[in-house]
Amino acid sequence: MTASASDAILSARGLTKEFFGFKAVNDVDLDVREGTIHALIGPNGAGKTTVFNLLTKFLTPSAGKIVFRGRDITGVKPADVARMGLVRSFQISAVFPHLTVLDNVRVALQRKDHLATQFWRSNRVLDRLNGEANRLIEAVGLTAYAEIDAAELPYGRKRALEIATTLALDPPVLLFDEPMAGMGVEDIGRISALIKRIAKGRTVVMVEHNLSVVADLCDQVTVLARGEILAEGDYETVSTDARVREAYMGTEDA
Ligand SMILES: Nc1ncnc2c1ncn2[C@@H]1O[C@H](COP(=O)(O)OP(=O)(O)OP(=O)(O)O)[C@@H](O)[C@H]1O
Ligand SMILES: [Mg+2]
Repeated sequence: MTASASDAILSARGLTKEFFGFKAVNDVDLDVREGTIHALIGPNGAGKTTVFNLLTKFLTPSAGKIVFRGRDITGVKPADVARMGLVRSFQISAVFPHLTVLDNVRVALQRKDHLATQFWRSNRVLDRLNGEANRLIEAVGLTAYAEIDAAELPYGRKRALEIATTLALDPPVLLFDEPMAGMGVEDIGRISALIKRIAKGRTVVMVEHNLSVVADLCDQVTVLARGEILAEGDYETVSTDARVREAYMGTEDA
């Protein structure tokens, strides 16, 4: 079932992106309901990343509009939508390889404070940061790695750190483009569980190739193919849709 515009926290209408006359995204309407995990799936080249970049304002649409919390953000800059609470991981969450896990999270927390208010930092403020940083590090399962340089972390743990630095901004809406890309089974399980946990009380939009992750995590799935929406609904609904199966398999009865 499509969300009505009224309970959507993030909506797109007629979203279109042309690259030199080629429509990578064509007339997409999307409603992301508040508090849900919403997946964007589809075959390679379907336009998922382009939609993701349009929603997070890293690309300017050729046509259409985007509304976030009732406000038209079509003309708003990426840094400003981030400040409004629409934050993408991982590109925006800088991880400094030669800082420890703890220092990376503290820097991210200071960035958030810096966004809100600028004030002189007493030791008391830094202590408060330590408490918050340690809670975040625990939340992403990195307590044992707190004093290790980010560069030394195994791949999956590095992504967990990126999630922690994103969470430091405490965004109500989090967007991920293929958070599990390049991960082994164990890391996929861990990051998947982490996303499920941090999604409580937030809205998550994720582009994801791994369909078992989508089946496990996502409340709502939008299937894109050739820049257009092919199907929408829960995983059960879209995965049994003949057009979706055809788009994925190249044949209707595959
Ligand atoms: N900057 C660009 N210039 C020209 N064409 C582009 C650009 N970005 C994307 N495209 C084209 O738009 C289409 C959609 O690309 P997009 O990256 O959004 O697909 P995707 O669904 O994310 O694919 P994948 O699963 O491979 O990540 C593709 O045909 C791609 O070649
Ligand atoms: Mg992509």
